[in-house]
Amino acid sequence: MTTTPDKFLEISKVGIDFPTANGPYTALKDVNFFIREGEFASIIGHSGCGKSTVLNIIAGLYQATSGGVILDGREVKDPGPDRAVVFQSHALMPWLSVFDNVGLAVEQVFRDSKTKAERREWIEHNLRLVKMEHAMRKMPHEISGGMKQRVGIARCLAMQPKVMLMDEPFGALDALTRANLQDSVMEIQKELNTTIILITHDVDEAVLMSDKIVMMSNGPAAKVGELLEVDLPRPRERVALSKDDQFNHYRQQVLSFLYEKKGVVDFDSAKRKAKESSEPSIAAEKVS
Ligand SMILES: Nc1ncnc2c1ncn2[C@@H]1O[C@H](COP(=O)(O)OP(=O)(O)OP(=O)(O)O)[C@@H](O)[C@H]1O
Ligand SMILES: [Mg+2]
Repeated sequence: MTTTPDKFLEISKVGIDFPTANGPYTALKDVNFFIREGEFASIIGHSGCGKSTVLNIIAGLYQATSGGVILDGREVKDPGPDRAVVFQSHALMPWLSVFDNVGLAVEQVFRDSKTKAERREWIEHNLRLVKMEHAMRKMPHEISGGMKQRVGIARCLAMQPKVMLMDEPFGALDALTRANLQDSVMEIQKELNTTIILITHDVDEAVLMSDKIVMMSNGPAAKVGELLEVDLPRPRERVALSKDDQFNHYRQQVLSFLYEKKGVVDFDSAKRKAKESSEPSIAAEKVS
C-alpha cells in the first residue's frame, strides 16, 4: 500500500472496548485523524476521554477492537522501534547511568548497523541535542525531574523513530522547567523534522507547540470532536505570541471546545444515554 505525504500516520475508524466487571466498556468509537510527516500534533481532551488509549493503540501496546492505524504505509500490529514513547514519568532504569539509559535503546536499534564507536558517538550526540551531555555519567537519582525527562526524550530520539509519542511529558514539571523543555522539543523538532504526537491538558502548550490540534470529545465512545490547524510561523516565541491575535484566536477555539461545548459533540448519543437511564440529558454539562 502507498501512503500519500498527507497521511504519514493514519488513525482510521479506531474503536476499543475494554472488558470490565460490568461488561465491555467502549472507550473509543470511530476515532479518525491523520498526521503528515514532520508534523507536530497535539491531542487534547478532558481527563479520562481516551487520549492515552489512542496513543497506546498507535504505539501498538493496545489492540483496537475496530479500525486500525497505518504508519508510513504499514499497519501497526505490535510495538516497534519506529514508534518511541515518552511518558509523563521518565521511566529511566534507576541502576543505569544517563549514558547507559540512552545506550540501552541504541543497542536495541543499532546493534547490527553501527559499530561500538559509532553507537557511543550517537548516544553522545542525542544527549547533546537535549543539553544533557554534561551529566552523561550521572545516575537518574542524581538529576532533577526536568533533566530526567530530557534523558527520556534523548532515548526516544536516539531510536530515530518515525513518530515520537509523548504522553503528557511535561505534566510533572514546574512552569519554568516546562517552558524550557517545550522550547527544546520545538528546536529539536525543527532541526530533525521529527513527527510528534503530544498529549496534553494544557491549552497554551497545545497551541504554542502544534501544527494540528486533535480535540477529543468526552467518553464513553469518545471520538475526535474538532480538528484545528495551527498556522503560526516558527520559531515560536511564547512571550510575543501571548500578545498575538492569531494565537489568541486559536487558544479561544480550543477553550471553547473544552469548556463551552464541554468536549461533547455526539448529542444523539448523549440523548440516547439519558433516555436509557430515564434521566434528563445532562451529558452536555458534564466536565471531568
Ligand atoms: N486497560 C483498561 N481497562 C479498562 N478500562 C480502561 C483501560 N485503559 C483505559 N481505560 C478506560 O478508558 C477510558 C480512557 O482512559 P485513558 O487513560 O485513555 O484517558 P486519558 O484521556 O488519557 O485520561 P487522563 O487525561 O486522565 O490521562 C477511561 O474511562 C479509562 O478508565
Ligand atoms: Mg492519559
